[in-house]
Amino acid sequence: MEQKEKHQATKAKKQGMLKEFFGNQLKEMLYIENKSLELMQEMEENCYTEELEDAINEHRHQTEKQVKRLKKCFRLIEVEPEEKKSVIIDNLLNESQAILKEASNSSRSKDALIIIAAQKLEHFEIAMYNGLIQLALTMGKEDVAELLEKNYHEEYDSECLLNSIGEEKLFIEDEESQT
Ligand SMILES: [Fe+2]
Repeated sequence: MEQKEKHQATKAKKQGMLKEFFGNQLKEMLYIENKSLELMQEMEENCYTEELEDAINEHRHQTEKQVKRLKKCFRLIEVEPEEKKSVIIDNLLNESQAILKEASNSSRSKDALIIIAAQKLEHFEIAMYNGLIQLALTMGKEDVAELLEKNYHEEYDSECLLNSIGEEKLFIEDEESQT
């Protein structure tokens, strides 16, 4: 085989492996977003303050759109939109569900615990999207990267909103109630 042909064959093999890895990561992301939809529904039902309930409700609706964008990404890379189980997210969800069950009902401290659980989830999603965007760009799939960036920014904004609700509303009011 000519040197040039060998080089092209190696390049095609690498691209195939990258596409497979990216597809698997995308399947994991679809699993994560669908699972987080279920969790957010539970969180919403357990919020004490309306502000937190509204924030989670808004992000739940954003997540429904994110799932549609992910499915569009699958179409663009010509891979079936299937879910791939993620052990990390399963553990995070189990922990969050335990928090929802254990925390006392209708209290501000429950909201604080919900915020912390939601922040962990957002943080993980942000890291996942970051990796996916880099991979899409490496594969030369700018259209896919653009869709993933929209999801990334929504996750980032959602985490910032949770931070500000946590800092400005819950923890400060808690300090005031103790003085
Ligand atoms: Fe999210």
